[in-house]
Amino acid sequence: MKKKLFIKTYGCQMNVYDSDRMVDVLAPLGYEPTNTPEGADMVILNTCHIREKASEKVYSELGRLRVMQNDKAAEGGRMVLAVAGCVAQAEGAEIMMRAPHVDMVFGPQTYHQLPEMVTRAVRGAGGVLNTDFPTESKFDLLPEEGTRHHGPAAFLSVQEGCDKFCTFCVVPYTRGSEYSRPVAQVLAEARRMVAGGTVEITLLGQNVNAFHGEGPDGKAWGLGRLIRALAEIDGLQRIRYTTSHPRDMDDDLIDAHGSVPQLMPFLHLPVQSGSDRILAAMNRKHTSDDYRRLIDRLRARQPDLALSSDFITGFPGETDQDFADTLRLISDVGYAQAYSFKYSARPGTPAASMGDRQVEESVKDERLQAVQQLLNAQQVAFNQGLIGHTIGVLFDRVGKLEGQLLGRSPFMQSVHAVVPSHLMGRIVDVHINGAHANSLSGDAVGLPPVLPVTPAEAVA
Ligand code: 5AD
Ligand code: SF4
Repeated sequence: MKKKLFIKTYGCQMNVYDSDRMVDVLAPLGYEPTNTPEGADMVILNTCHIREKASEKVYSELGRLRVMQNDKAAEGGRMVLAVAGCVAQAEGAEIMMRAPHVDMVFGPQTYHQLPEMVTRAVRGAGGVLNTDFPTESKFDLLPEEGTRHHGPAAFLSVQEGCDKFCTFCVVPYTRGSEYSRPVAQVLAEARRMVAGGTVEITLLGQNVNAFHGEGPDGKAWGLGRLIRALAEIDGLQRIRYTTSHPRDMDDDLIDAHGSVPQLMPFLHLPVQSGSDRILAAMNRKHTSDDYRRLIDRLRARQPDLALSSDFITGFPGETDQDFADTLRLISDVGYAQAYSFKYSARPGTPAASMGDRQVEESVKDERLQAVQQLLNAQQVAFNQGLIGHTIGVLFDRVGKLEGQLLGRSPFMQSVHAVVPSHLMGRIVDVHINGAHANSLSGDAVGLPPVLPVTPAEAVA
């Protein structure tokens, strides 16, 4: 009998990708995805630990699920409840203690062991806790992507983990050390996606431009070389990658931005702060001027490049002057969009124990608002600058209004247009005539006119 599986995904795109792979690995056990936790036979929370709020949400969700789990038991059924992802990795034993109704807690490197864990949990001899970093790679052991349709724009995980140890970040602890998939495996997965109708692939990794996967020639390939090989796949029209570290932007990757037409002119390149003192305390190992020079080199190769970044306000020891340096860097670079966060002390990270230097919450708040105001103004200006231009839009979602489709511009903006529904999954030229804070609107150009159907033709 088919069993219902509900996965709730928090956090980054890597988790979205991982959740899809969990669906693949559980399919042979009879689990089919469903879009509500109510009545499900298994519920997995795929969690994020990057900031405090992200993990608090998990505990409140577990409380709500407990009620549903009891309802199911009252009907004679069983809801297996699992916590996966980075909170599971970081706080596994604590979750088992605080929420004893949870059946399985397992970390990101163990998903290929899911069938075995499910068997143990269903047998019911206590909870299953698995936060190992197995020696084998889950990518070698997870089933090949099924025939599942990935949609026109899909994600492909090529790298995982991080060895950078920025002093604020939990990733090196929860995802483990850096690992790159072999090139042949990545190319095969990309080909399968394209055969299934995908036209845009975003390569994923916590530190994706540190990619150094083994190539067919036995040598380590960098990300630029991988992108060039992907660009040869017929039908793959757009390539992106995220998230990058400034220190890993090598010459070949920079060059790819100017020489590979499929590589979209948009780059998320987090800098975190504009102050050299804070960058050093964060262990970023580059200065703000190194970053400015890097942006200049990228723009020299691809003048249309739109940039995005992450910023942290109120890192321990951040002074008004440090913060002013961050605002200055933002003004110098000019971003198309960016994310900003208040510093959140994560247990076990070096910055969390820079005790006396923690910045007051109200100061973090003020600075966050100032950063966001500047970034929003830049985003609006960037969006407005596209009015009157014609850009390619890949339609991949249905819009809110009748007849409207939503898609993505080369620069990652959402674009809506009223267009025939058969354009879903296609890249269409759109003349932009409206710019809003978070999206653009426009009219498709160069489409054949839609001829009215006469009653006689309709009958024929
Ligand atoms: N506090 C605030 N922001 C953080 N990030 C990572 N760790 C923390 C933290 N402890 C942000 C960084 C990173 C993004 C994914 O999340 O800006 O680039
Ligand atoms: Fe975290 Fe990114 Fe720094 Fe790695 S490079 S430690 S993932 S912020």
